[in-house]
Amino acid sequence: MTPPAAVIVLAAGEGTRMKSATPKVLHQVCGRSLVGHVVTTAESIDAGQVVVVLGHQRERVAAHLAESFPRVVTTVQAEQNGTGHAVRVTLDQLADQGVTWDSGPVVVVSGDSPLLSEQTLELLIAEHESAQAAVTVLSAELPDPTGYGRIVRDSAGLVQGIVEHKDATAEQLAIREVNSGMYVFDAGFLRAAIAGLSTDNSQGEEYLTDLVAVARADGRPVAALAAPDPDDTLGINNRAQLAHVEAIMRHRINHHWMITGVTMRDPATTYIDADVSLEPDCVLEPGVALRGVTVVAAGAVVGPDSTLIDTTVGAEARVNRVHSESAVIGPGATVGPFTYLRPAADLGPDSKAGAFVEIKNAVVGQDAKVPHLTYVGDAEIGSGANIGASSVFVNYDGVSKSRTVVGREARVGSDTMLVAPVVVGPGAYTAAGSVIVEDVPAGALAIARGRQRNIEGWVAANRAGTPAAEAAADAEGQE
Ligand code: UD1
Ligand code: CA
Repeated sequence: MTPPAAVIVLAAGEGTRMKSATPKVLHQVCGRSLVGHVVTTAESIDAGQVVVVLGHQRERVAAHLAESFPRVVTTVQAEQNGTGHAVRVTLDQLADQGVTWDSGPVVVVSGDSPLLSEQTLELLIAEHESAQAAVTVLSAELPDPTGYGRIVRDSAGLVQGIVEHKDATAEQLAIREVNSGMYVFDAGFLRAAIAGLSTDNSQGEEYLTDLVAVARADGRPVAALAAPDPDDTLGINNRAQLAHVEAIMRHRINHHWMITGVTMRDPATTYIDADVSLEPDCVLEPGVALRGVTVVAAGAVVGPDSTLIDTTVGAEARVNRVHSESAVIGPGATVGPFTYLRPAADLGPDSKAGAFVEIKNAVVGQDAKVPHLTYVGDAEIGSGANIGASSVFVNYDGVSKSRTVVGREARVGSDTMLVAPVVVGPGAYTAAGSVIVEDVPAGALAIARGRQRNIEGWVAANRAGTPAAEAAADAEGQE
């Protein structure tokens, strides 16, 4: 397959049926925008240029593309006068910038059809080349062809033209082979023919689909490839179709990872975004959502019931009922159950963050442990240190945030308040229930709490007749 000279992505339409303030092509499927999926596929086949035609809300779409797909070129179709018009103004605008393609395939696809796979696109281009066609259409046999353009074939079975649903005769409406809106054109043919499109149809638009009949009239070969998987051709016009397409893509992504060696206990409750990467032999328990650019290494076990966003999980780590965003979980680390990792939480190798622990912007050293009921914010915990249950890294004075440093092998007692900025030296201890406001030298024990005083007989004197007084009297009798 010759990589195409260009892939033109049509994305100027409004997407009225989405009923959304967000332009249609910026809606997401499996964590990536619709147009982003199409562009990713176009880039994967090494197209010389990927051109996205913008129209409605073009500033927003352009900003998204510039940020996430910087190699993409954009053109503007200010008024949406049809798919043919979109391609025509695109070729004109590029020509003004000195860009023209005289030979080789030029692909045209829709920005709202994110299921088009690399393999199908490659097959379409290969078919185009072997047929030496002027235009090759990706078609699909649909049980319900309503709304789609129909592929009209002649008595020899050759593609004669495409008729839009709104322009079709009753006989043509019965055709179930539809136009997917994805094509390969010979660059020279496209450039020559696009200028001649008319608007003589029910919608008064320049139809790109008319180029099929133009090619036939010129005596140029026209080819059609039936999509091996008709799902590849599905376009999105409303939120129900958005959900339907997402379900298919999710299934494809899950299948892909299982085939590469990932164990998924329950694919039906496993949600993996398009940009996630997984190593073979990681295990995903039921109820796992891996979002953004999350990475999970070999041997790690994630779940059940965990959501990881832009999180890196090291080899052999155990992540159980965790919500994590922009965090790093080191190899062999144990996290959960019920742990909240926030941005820049960085858990070292074999470290532990246990139940009801929240960690933000903090490095937890190798083998260090934060086992229970603790908030760690803006901190550095040295290797092998242990943070006792119910401790708080008091990082916020109401105005600004300060850092806490706990040295290696330190032992922070249960219910310690570490009031930042503060340093607990290597190997130091803090007594349970302490409020630490001054630095603790290495190896010292810091105690910062009131001394205990026992008032003998207080219950008998002040709470006579209560069960407590009775229990106390019993205990006295047994002495
Ligand atoms: C189009 C095809 C139809 C095919 C269907 C497949 C034409 C005339 N018809 O119809 O045969 O079955 O796709 O989904 O091409 N767009 C622009 N500028 C415009 C008009 C559309 O950029 O002026 C873009 C839209 O944003 C969209 C794509 O082109 O991404 C398709 O446009 P749409 O209006 O959805 O075409 P259909 O009527 O569905
Ligand atoms: Ca459409």
